[in-house]
Amino acid sequence: MKKNKHQIILAPLHGFTDYVFRNVYCKHFSNVDSAISPFISLTVADNININRIRDLYPTRNTSLKVIPQLLGTDPQQFINMSDRLYEFGYKEVNWNLGCPIKKIAQKKRGSGMLPYPELLDQLLNEIIPLMKNKLSVKIRLGYNDTQEAYEIIKVLNKYPLKSVCIHPRLGIQMYEGELHHEVLKDIITKTRHKLIYNGDINTLSDFNFINQNYPTINKFMIGRGLIHNPFLPQIINENFHLNDEEAYVKFQSFIYDLKEEILNHKTEKQTINKMKDYWQYFCLRFKNHKEVFDLIIHSNTLSELNSVTNQIFLKEAINNWVS
Ligand SMILES: Cc1cc2nc3c(=O)[nH]c(=O)nc-3n(C[C@H](O)[C@H](O)[C@H](O)COP(=O)(O)O)c2cc1C
Repeated sequence: MKKNKHQIILAPLHGFTDYVFRNVYCKHFSNVDSAISPFISLTVADNININRIRDLYPTRNTSLKVIPQLLGTDPQQFINMSDRLYEFGYKEVNWNLGCPIKKIAQKKRGSGMLPYPELLDQLLNEIIPLMKNKLSVKIRLGYNDTQEAYEIIKVLNKYPLKSVCIHPRLGIQMYEGELHHEVLKDIITKTRHKLIYNGDINTLSDFNFINQNYPTINKFMIGRGLIHNPFLPQIINENFHLNDEEAYVKFQSFIYDLKEEILNHKTEKQTINKMKDYWQYFCLRFKNHKEVFDLIIHSNTLSELNSVTNQIFLKEAINNWVS
């Protein structure tokens, strides 16, 4: 397989980057090396509900290397799920220590674990010796304060980890606001693990900024930017440029296939709702994105959604395409 210049990992976006999206994406676009799956929330240890791991059936994941992600803090649940995933062939599991959602963080899950380095230490100490798979983690620079990152990194340095992916925000920031680049630069000097950068890579110039500022990092995780500009990995790696009209047609055909594929698995209503979710990002490809989203959000049937989508992609609308 061709080795990409910069390794690009599809970020986990719960509700968006499931196997249907991953497969349709790979059919239309290139230059993504792997994906972390949206998190599987750990619950009762003995009862692995098959519904929660459907996304990771090996037969559904042949087009892209996927690393399953777990969210939770119970060591036994963690091991049970990791073992099940190992049986599926997954040699690496990623631990979500970054989720900022309040309800989750309040239970010391996701980024809610970051103010508790001793607890993290204790859990890693219990989990790692029992795991058959390798472990990687996805973190932020803290929940309340970037100082938390220093204690977290000291703990992570004690353990063999495949990689540490860092989104340089705090949990309380959710997904917006300042990225703490100065703290991240300092943290990089203190970690012994391979790092993956994640956060706000939406354009080639965003990527160039990150690439220049972090010369020791060669793996980049992209989420929202890849959904609203699915060409981005190819632009980054191959300096790729389609003319606007070609891009437009390719994007439309991707969206059409995505809808058809979702429809193969879901009801009409569910498909419409899911496509509306994706359109929150897709509409950013259009200069008149508010107008575009407004058209989509008012579709109540699949035929309405189809005709509105066709209307958006009408040749005349090409003037509104963001290159
Ligand atoms: C709707 C949504 C769902 C997300 N779900 C997950 C998830 O399941 N696991 C995770 O580690 N991060 C999750 N994230 C965070 C992203 O993986 C990523 O860290 C964040 O969006 C910043 O990267 P980006 O700017 O490239 O999107 C989610 C983010 C969004 C917006």
